[in-house]
Amino acid sequence: MEEQEDPIIDKAEMMDETEDVQQHLNNPVDVSVKPIIKQYLGAVKKVKKEGNRFYFSDGDARVEVRIVSDEIIRVRLAPHGVFLDDFSYAVPEVDQKVSVFKMVELDDCYTISTSTVTCRVEKATFHISFIDIVTSVVMVDEPNSMHWEENVDFGGYYIYATKKCQDEENFFGLGDKSGNFNLRGRRFENWNTDAYSFGWNQDPLYRTIPFYIGIHDKAAYGIFFDNTFKSYFDFGEEDVHKTSFWADGGELQYYYIHGPHMMDVVKRYASLTGTHPMPPKWTLGYQQCRWSYYPEAKVKDIAKQFRDRKIPCDAIYLDIDYMDGYRCFTWNKKYFPDPRRMIKELADDGFKTVVMIDPGIKVDDDYWVFKEGKDNKYFCRRSDDYFMEGHVWPGRCQFPDFTSPKVRKWWGKLYEELVDMGVAGFWNDMNEPAVFGSGTFPNDVRHNYDGYRGSHRKAHNVYGMQMVRATYEGLKKLMRNKRPFTITRAGYSGMQRYASVWTGDNVATWEHLKIGNIQCQRLSVSGVPFCGTDIGGFSGEPDGELFSRWIQLGVFSPFMRAHSAGDTAEREPWSFGDFYEDINRKFIELRYRLMPYLYSVFWEHHRYGFPILRPLIMLEQENVGNNFRQDEFCYGDKLLICPVLEQGAVSRKVYLPKGTWYNFWTHEVLVGESEHEVEAQIDSMPIFVRAGSVLPEYPVMQYVDEKAITEVFLNIYHSDYEVNSFMYEDHGDTFAYEQDIYLEKKFTVKGDEAHLKINQNVAGLYTPNYELYDCNVIGVKFKVNKVLIDSKEITDFSIDERGRLRFKCNKNFFEIQIS
Ligand code: GLC
Repeated sequence: MEEQEDPIIDKAEMMDETEDVQQHLNNPVDVSVKPIIKQYLGAVKKVKKEGNRFYFSDGDARVEVRIVSDEIIRVRLAPHGVFLDDFSYAVPEVDQKVSVFKMVELDDCYTISTSTVTCRVEKATFHISFIDIVTSVVMVDEPNSMHWEENVDFGGYYIYATKKCQDEENFFGLGDKSGNFNLRGRRFENWNTDAYSFGWNQDPLYRTIPFYIGIHDKAAYGIFFDNTFKSYFDFGEEDVHKTSFWADGGELQYYYIHGPHMMDVVKRYASLTGTHPMPPKWTLGYQQCRWSYYPEAKVKDIAKQFRDRKIPCDAIYLDIDYMDGYRCFTWNKKYFPDPRRMIKELADDGFKTVVMIDPGIKVDDDYWVFKEGKDNKYFCRRSDDYFMEGHVWPGRCQFPDFTSPKVRKWWGKLYEELVDMGVAGFWNDMNEPAVFGSGTFPNDVRHNYDGYRGSHRKAHNVYGMQMVRATYEGLKKLMRNKRPFTITRAGYSGMQRYASVWTGDNVATWEHLKIGNIQCQRLSVSGVPFCGTDIGGFSGEPDGELFSRWIQLGVFSPFMRAHSAGDTAEREPWSFGDFYEDINRKFIELRYRLMPYLYSVFWEHHRYGFPILRPLIMLEQENVGNNFRQDEFCYGDKLLICPVLEQGAVSRKVYLPKGTWYNFWTHEVLVGESEHEVEAQIDSMPIFVRAGSVLPEYPVMQYVDEKAITEVFLNIYHSDYEVNSFMYEDHGDTFAYEQDIYLEKKFTVKGDEAHLKINQNVAGLYTPNYELYDCNVIGVKFKVNKVLIDSKEITDFSIDERGRLRFKCNKNFFEIQIS
């Protein structure tokens, strides 16, 4: 019989692995197997320039310094002069807009300068440093910084870089880590891991984002170590004077990203790895999940209760039990005899149905997905060509190689029937990949890696990202011009281009409420905007108080979903009695009231790379040490959120950053750069609005777009200094925004002791339905005599019982003058 060609992996390129090698692969730092020799760069002997790339050589090893943009410089090391293929799942396009740069040779070094940064390469030591042209702040190599250890067993190097850790330096980022926001003094590993019930400081977790931000002397810079192998970061744990990052293979390649503000670094990292596309608007609504809602009658009952109790909700999730024996893309017909009808009935009541899809495909010759995968050799193979098999929910499974473009295309099409039935969102879980017993795949599993080939050592950390990419890209085609909605558990830098994330299997404890709060902020500054926790905690039992506090925080998680494990008590917003139900309703309603603001903040992320959640230190970079008020954050730049994370709390201390702030609930004006003790009874959570904000509000609805909007509330907060606010609007579910069909409104507020002026400018091609604003001016400092809209006096204004000046306005461009 003719031997069939493996379409994914060229057999000639396969690794030849003996038992010895295998043992070593599974235990790569076990030096008893073969000696490992450390090698260092010598003195710089040669320099060559090719366009925006500079090659420095010590006669054998070569280092490439590439000017990616005025603010981003990439460094790569080729231990024996030959660079690996320049391919990255994280960075689709390396070069950005480069203006002018020049190299100068001095006695002891070469300097390459852009308009903002100088990269200096020392001739004698090969040390590389980056110097901010304005602030002179430096990031500098330690002696023998870039080095490698040859390991002939698997044909690669362990690669290392060590930088100086400045005395006052602090570190942030790395996406998915548990513990304090500041990473200084800790060491981390990146290896995507199913970390059920993880704890404070547990590492590694589900996702790998090898990007950090360093801040010292009030200036920030970033390092993105684009390496998918198991990688490590040490922020002064082993040696307080050193920051190191290293990996168990691949190329030593990192991007230096210039600041000087943390926001600059975050935005520039987004310019490399991408932003999240605009999500369907309904996905910003409240979402209800459980492992699992079944049968159909249960799902319907949950939906009915939401509507009867008037608690807004946009989506209901079906966890693994909707499937037939956990076979993906099938239905359990006993529980769901007619899913199409059920989904339609739910949709008629305003609910979207979201279903889970896992990567493990049940080994079963009568199962079409398995058969197609097997016949086309889409499943991962071991080094000697045997199948990669492991046990997950369905029992014995094989796993698609999502790093193959062909497999991704196939996988994307598998969703066709579900999409056709009306399923609106897809939840990709267990994609670290998780395997019962062994944890994950063995290292020798081969992957196509988009033609660049690799073992699981290289592909492990991108497996989940490529799975959800396959899902997203497939859905994009199937749904034509509609926006897909996907959620992933595992991922790698750049995953935000394809999916939202939740933080995995957390626990119903107060500590986890704190972990989740910091985790979401950390994901946010690490390029992953659309994130949230399992509200209430996945495992364990929250009481009513903890659940309500979690809902309150969840209003300000970009992704707001309650979820719980199957062996826990019922966990819906009404499960803890009327008292807590009322609180939960009030806060979920708040989410819907703030919808136009939340959506506008998403646009600021998508279009301009701003993170959605902005930790306090992003507002006051000088307050970086000692995790000062790490529980507070801004949602966008107008709302400061101070969640209540302590059991029994009835008030809490808040720190307000520079500026003037309004208490969202009471309208009390507070001055920033100071701490305040504020009320925080169980039915409230401290929220502050920046003076000068224009905060748009929709009327409460039971789900997004339940009713046509006929007017929008504009909450206008008086300010003595000029403040701009933005509001973004579009169709909410299409990609028309990519053709500029959207509206960006810009409001400007400026007042004094006797006047207040509000302007609105509009740009864009989208026309909203409503024509009316219900304006509520808060904090007016004087007795109002006159209100002029575009120089025309209006008499129809009033001061309400809360002291707000109220009037209507039906103009698109306007100037309002109040005196
Ligand atoms: C994993 C997921 C969890 C899900 C469960 C069953 O533990 O993290 O969210 O409910 O699997 O599918």
